[in-house]
Amino acid sequence: MDLLVLGGTAFLGRAVATEAVARGHRVVCAARGSAPVPDGASLVRLDRDHDRGLAPVVDHSWDAVVDVTRTPRHTERAVRDLTTQHHVLVSTGNVYARFDRPEQSEDAALCAPVDDLDDISDYGRGKVACESLVRAASATSTVVRSGLIGGPGDTSGRSGYYPWRFAHPTGADVLLPAVPDFPVALIDVEDLARWLVLAAERRIDGTFNATGRTTTLAEVVRLAADVAGSDATPRWVDPAELERLGVAAWMGPTSLPLWIDDPAWRWFATMDTVAARTAGLVTRPLADTLARTLAYEERRTEPRLAGLTDPDEIRVRAALDAA
Ligand SMILES: NC(=O)c1ccc[n+]([C@@H]2O[C@H](COP(=O)([O-])OP(=O)(O)OC[C@H]3O[C@@H](n4cnc5c(N)ncnc54)[C@H](OP(=O)(O)O)[C@@H]3O)[C@@H](O)[C@H]2O)c1
Repeated sequence: MDLLVLGGTAFLGRAVATEAVARGHRVVCAARGSAPVPDGASLVRLDRDHDRGLAPVVDHSWDAVVDVTRTPRHTERAVRDLTTQHHVLVSTGNVYARFDRPEQSEDAALCAPVDDLDDISDYGRGKVACESLVRAASATSTVVRSGLIGGPGDTSGRSGYYPWRFAHPTGADVLLPAVPDFPVALIDVEDLARWLVLAAERRIDGTFNATGRTTTLAEVVRLAADVAGSDATPRWVDPAELERLGVAAWMGPTSLPLWIDDPAWRWFATMDTVAARTAGLVTRPLADTLARTLAYEERRTEPRLAGLTDPDEIRVRAALDAA
């Protein structure tokens, strides 16, 4: 296959390019070039923020295009300017209108689309627009609504924080939000990439949810401690106490990831993935992902964007002990 990856210099796009090269495809990545592309793929530098930005890759007939954009304008230009047999769009579970019910299937209600992504809080609405543009313009397309993506290269730190924290405890325990039954699901970046390449090869037509099996925060914590070989014990802290001590949920500075303190978002991470699994998606055991992510956390140099730093955790523990 002649495969064009729109992206390829970051987490998922790079994994897609790596997988496609390994499967013997000719891979061109089109991006501004903020980081190198994998060995065996080539980079065409371009900027999709310009109306004719895709010009360097329009004079070729592609077997498939994989696009990771979040921006409807980028999608509009891609479907207008590129010649391809098949289009794979990486979308997101954020397209759904509600998250107060478990494991929604692909026919659940969506949020309203936006024409352009001026505000990141419109992320899901932007992806709804991207999905419609791709479906309307392509003879065949795979629209993949991904759940939280974990694994080596997850710069957000959401999948890596707990294994890393158990490997480097600041005391006898590890601080956690006291919602052990909170539903968690995530997909390993390599499993997702493999299925995206398969979808391109087979021109799988349709819209699919893609994430891992639903589990609980307690199980993630158990596995994280296990892969870290840690003796530290979990210390489940009332979410109200965490809030009082300045600890946020999900991600960002001074946070504890993989939970959201809002019933309307309780099932956010979970999705019905029967259709994707029937079409060839295979997801590995969560323990494998956590172990590989821990190895990545041990060598990463950029700051983690989720979790508690050592001083944060020590401060919060001391405040809890003093209360
Ligand atoms: N992370 C998650 O948990 C999660 C969950 C659900 C869905 N998703 C979806 O998964 C995908 C993640 O993709 P990713 O990790 O490969 O990428 P990413 O971190 O979103 O980076 C975007 C890619 O597009 C390129 N790009 C950005 N602006 C560009 C421009 N103006 N012109 C040309 N190229 C541009 C970037 O390269 P340059 O900077 O080199 O231009 C980069 O390769 C996204 O579609 C996201 O919505 C993520």
